[in-house]
Amino acid sequence: MQKFDKVASIREALAVVRSQGKSVGLVPTMGALHDGHLSLIRKALEQNDVVVVSVFVNPIQFNNKEDLAKYPRTVDADMALIENLQKSEFDGAKKELFVLVPSVEEMYPEPVKEVYHFGALEEVMEGPQRPGHFSGVAVVVRRLFDIAEPQRAYFGEKDYQQLAIIRNLIEQIKYPIEIVACPIVRADDGLALSSRNMRLSPAARAIAPAINDTLQQAAEMAECEDVDDVKEWVMGTLSSFHEVNEEQCPDGLKFEPEYFEVVNAKTLQPIENWEDAGGDGAVGCIAVWLDGVRLIDVVKF
Ligand code: PAF
Repeated sequence: MQKFDKVASIREALAVVRSQGKSVGLVPTMGALHDGHLSLIRKALEQNDVVVVSVFVNPIQFNNKEDLAKYPRTVDADMALIENLQKSEFDGAKKELFVLVPSVEEMYPEPVKEVYHFGALEEVMEGPQRPGHFSGVAVVVRRLFDIAEPQRAYFGEKDYQQLAIIRNLIEQIKYPIEIVACPIVRADDGLALSSRNMRLSPAARAIAPAINDTLQQAAEMAECEDVDDVKEWVMGTLSSFHEVNEEQCPDGLKFEPEYFEVVNAKTLQPIENWEDAGGDGAVGCIAVWLDGVRLIDVVKF
């Protein structure tokens, strides 16, 4: 494993591996790595000769300064996790791992002027809640594509809308990169793994699995209930959780769902009836505040 903090140095190293005909996979991350990220890195190592993992908390995708300031930064632990994965599972496999950990100045030596638009894809869910977020994601991902020039790039399905945005970005900029979507990794109690989970208090962490429990029950309800009824039930169940489970919710601890939307799995446009999703299928995407932490999750219907 090699660590780079300069863009020029990793470009040089990548030029060498490319001249040897080796394939490159890119795993963009904001660090605070967990098993979800490791599943992306594992997949990338299986499918490529060289894997570039970027660890960069991208300031221009945060529309909330406090969220940016509180985003966990654990670079040493991240490096140890990546190294351990390579040693324990890919020892002798002749795979190379490059970890890019640039500063903000290194990534953005000039003020960022580019703006990306994603039409209807960004008019739903995260889009209205986080103005400028997806453009900020697109800017950094394109920069990482330009640096790594990968054949494949790996993204998690937990950020379902981000995945659709990245696929759209690839069409806009016409880069021949295969986007590999990797399934959500969950803790044993069902909570979707997220770097933000480490900011939850023990009491909040204990009730957080109710998000996935509620979504799983919603998937069962979808077999006989209308879309609107399922949506209302999900929002109501989480909003009233603290009233029904008083003993588990000390000091005003409660879920504050921001949205739960049922959308066509490809176009991400909200559907009113299950049949409207057609062959694409439907997914439910949720964002919930808990203990000052914003959590997202997805259920496939
Ligand atoms: O999903 C994330 O962690 C980030 O949005 C990404 C893709 C690394 C861009 O900063």
